[in-house]
Amino acid sequence: MDTITVRKMEFEFSDEMDLVFIEHDPAFSFLFLGTWMLLPYLEPYLMRTMRTALEQIDNEALAHDLRQFCSQEGQHYQQHAKANDIILSLMPDAQRQTMQEKLSSIAAEYRSFTETKPLQWNLAYAEGFEAYTAAGARTQMELRVFDYMQDPIRDLMLWHIMEELEHRTVAYDAYQTLGNGYLYGLRVGLWAQRHFVGLGRQLADSMIDAFPELMAAHDAPQAHKIRKQHRTAYMRRTLKNLAGIYAPWYSPRNYALPPMYEEARTEYNQRAISTAA
Ligand SMILES: [Fe+2]
Ligand SMILES: [Fe+2]
Repeated sequence: MDTITVRKMEFEFSDEMDLVFIEHDPAFSFLFLGTWMLLPYLEPYLMRTMRTALEQIDNEALAHDLRQFCSQEGQHYQQHAKANDIILSLMPDAQRQTMQEKLSSIAAEYRSFTETKPLQWNLAYAEGFEAYTAAGARTQMELRVFDYMQDPIRDLMLWHIMEELEHRTVAYDAYQTLGNGYLYGLRVGLWAQRHFVGLGRQLADSMIDAFPELMAAHDAPQAHKIRKQHRTAYMRRTLKNLAGIYAPWYSPRNYALPPMYEEARTEYNQRAISTAA
């Protein structure tokens, strides 16, 4: 298994940053940005789950991975929160208020999962989410979608998904060790995926409402054509990669990672202000 390295980064976000960070595609940009609004609530929930699991794990190698997982997720949500604060500050008051109300209810819902659901359910949710994001991360690296994205959001996304791949086995191993079998994991994992994709779509709709001028600015026929090509390739590859995660023999150890994964690890090891492995 790859070393799970905790990298502290210093990304520079400003109110000048390009929110349409995917070339010619405001709606797809907002789908990502909207979904990432929930990370400061979802990732701490995953950390609470893994910390509870840690109390029952006596395999020292897995315990180390769980601690590294928590530290990586802690860095992820803090960096995303900085970008989110700027995006919220750019929204008109009415849409910002709607977004903040949604985020409050999302925060309460994730807190209630920790407080009311059994550990096996929370571990299955975590693995459903992690398997889904690892499949997405593979798609993004295989297709090198970062070639048509703008910094600093591109930079944030590439660092984050690289580390998602680095810790891809942790939630899987935790569920295998303390979970409740394949069918339960599949059922709760599918529920988890529908849950966070649904929340992400709602938050993306708030972004679309907030920035109609950015939607209109990318309405030329050439923009339509380019984004259609990109999206078609993306959806095809996503379906292919996702199909693999539902099989009983699925393991995140078995898949081949594209060259961009090691390139990104090297780059962010060099750029991090500190690293801990
Ligand atoms: Fe993360
Ligand atoms: Fe993760």
